[in-house]
Amino acid sequence: MFKIIEKSSHATGINRFVIEVPEIAKKVLPGQFTILRLHEKGERIPITVADSDKVKGTITLFVQEVGKTTIEMGKLKTGDTILDVVGPLGVLSHIENFGTVLCIAGGVGVAVMYPIAKALKEKGNKIISILGARSKNFIILENEIKKNSDEFFLTTDDGSYGQKGFVSNVLNDLLAIRHSPLANIVYAIGPVPMMRVISEITKQHNLKTIVSLNPIMVDGTGMCGACRVSVGGVTKFACVDGPDFDGHLVNWTELTSRLSVFKREEKESLDHYCKYLKTVRNS
Ligand SMILES: Cc1cc2nc3c(=O)[nH]c(=O)nc-3n(C[C@H](O)[C@H](O)[C@H](O)COP(=O)(O)OP(=O)(O)OC[C@H]3O[C@@H](n4cnc5c(N)ncnc54)[C@H](O)[C@@H]3O)c2cc1C
Ligand code: FES
Repeated sequence: MFKIIEKSSHATGINRFVIEVPEIAKKVLPGQFTILRLHEKGERIPITVADSDKVKGTITLFVQEVGKTTIEMGKLKTGDTILDVVGPLGVLSHIENFGTVLCIAGGVGVAVMYPIAKALKEKGNKIISILGARSKNFIILENEIKKNSDEFFLTTDDGSYGQKGFVSNVLNDLLAIRHSPLANIVYAIGPVPMMRVISEITKQHNLKTIVSLNPIMVDGTGMCGACRVSVGGVTKFACVDGPDFDGHLVNWTELTSRLSVFKREEKESLDHYCKYLKTVRNS
């Protein structure tokens, strides 16, 4: 059992959890994730470690409510416990002094980007950050990313904060204004359509681009095959070979289609859970 030391609702449907897991806090590195199971009957969900404190033995997670388990997790409070927290899993992100790094993140992908941007900054890179969200209420970790950036841009789809539009608009604008290579490497993390668009743009400009893939995962140890992705025509398992991959080599069409394979079951599971919540409320 792992205790929730702090739970707060950070943005619309995005919850921040600080959980006591000393073994993971001691070892976790940027880009790595955990697999959680809330209780005996719970589904396993992969969540990236956004921050950690070795001294306090805690890890920080940002979890967006998108379906049954993440909504159920959103109902937990400070002091509650989680049955399993396994990790750290996955390969750590490649951190070195590249020169200038463009960090582009959207939605809850900002939480995945944060430890990477921080580590890249500590290595002496110049960081240009572009953050995007649906609207003002969905922005997370703005100040933390800003603190680690030399240049900072923010967009919202509806224009309620920052520049109206998408992160790809800012990328295109910067590429049009700056003639020398904009960056030595790009990290792009967020929803699959966003990572796909960014990778298509950067490919035309020959800008190496790393993306963090989020296929469906079950065991997280390379045994079940659920998280398989095609990269450069080769089958990879995102849980043990990734989640970071070269965005120019990812088969985005296959990833998009595999992510929707269980849509019907996911909807059924959520409907079931909503009915259960109604019964509990009315009893
Ligand atoms: C390596 C990795 C790191 C991630 N980090 C974060 C994070 O830091 N914060 C965050 O909010 N989300 C993160 N996710 C996504 C998160 O795991 C899913 O949103 C969650 O599993 C959905 O579960 P659900 O039951 O609430 O929704 P469901 O109804 O089961 O699914 C909703 C959608 O989420 C995706 N999904 C479902 N099950 C999984 C699964 N086991 N693994 C991956 N995706 C799934 C599918 O696209 C699905 O359509 C990460 C995913 C991966 C693979
Ligand atoms: S989650 Fe099972 S192989 Fe990756």
